[in-house]
Amino acid sequence: MKPVRKVVIPVAGLGTRVLPATKSIPKELLPVVDRPLIDYVVAEAREAGIDDVILVTGRGKGAIEEYFDHAFELEATLAAKGKNDVLAALKAALPKAGTVSYTRQQAPLGLGHAVWCARALVGDEPFAVSLPDEIVPERPGFLKQMVDAYAQTGGNIVAVEEVPPEETSKYGVIAPKARKGELIEMTGMVEKPAPKDAPSNFRIIGRYILQPEIFALLEKQERGAGGEIQLTDSMNALVREQTFHACLCKGVIHDCGSKLGWLQANVDLGLKSPELSQAFRKFVETRVKD
Ligand code: UTP
Repeated sequence: MKPVRKVVIPVAGLGTRVLPATKSIPKELLPVVDRPLIDYVVAEAREAGIDDVILVTGRGKGAIEEYFDHAFELEATLAAKGKNDVLAALKAALPKAGTVSYTRQQAPLGLGHAVWCARALVGDEPFAVSLPDEIVPERPGFLKQMVDAYAQTGGNIVAVEEVPPEETSKYGVIAPKARKGELIEMTGMVEKPAPKDAPSNFRIIGRYILQPEIFALLEKQERGAGGEIQLTDSMNALVREQTFHACLCKGVIHDCGSKLGWLQANVDLGLKSPELSQAFRKFVETRVKD
């Protein structure tokens, strides 16, 4: 079985749900406490042993490339001012040269199209997909749990979490076949089903391990929900040929692609930050009392 060595991170979307913040800043660079979203996702991949990062970018997303490069003036200024701790932290966080690749999605035609744009960089091997607006700050991260599961199952894996049954119409959910602990063999996926039609209440999270055969399906995938080329539609075709498991991951995931989720992530991680938690907790407590 080939190992998962590469992660595709699509960053070409417009981020309309968090406008106007994303009018001139990529959504993926919005900070949670002191780190941009993309940083959390790359760190999660590294923990899973995946160092080869493929970013699918688009117009106006150039600042993401700057983030993964040296900032010479900044580094020289920090050194001159003796701010060596900050400088060392910046350098340590920088990915090894040559491990981050970029390709462009020339128009935001949907997640499936964004993943397809990475086909030449992925090649003929299994790969992970991580959506950067969903962050998993705790360890083990979801990708690590999925890579461990992959060692047992092979095939394709999607991450899921349980949601209240009355909320299925907000999410993509899986159709389960057989469950073994945290792994659920599945027969397919359904987009936003009404609770009475939902095959389960396990919602799909933005973490996937896919086999390269998905690219041929994406190539001819027609537009689906919202007029976009949907990854789910091609996965539903692949499920007829290959195994798919859902991995019920342990831990908290924050959906920072919505204003509420982004605020919640900041409060949650602010309260956990060794540097800020004491003062921040005091502040939050006074505000909650008012
Ligand atoms: P979202 O579904 O959150 O879409 O994409 P979006 O366009 O960014 O945001 P909204 O819904 O308008 O607020 C999930 C991830 O997939 C990327 C996004 O950049 C985001 O990281 N994406 C989405 C693409 O790269 N291309 C697309 O065509 C769509």
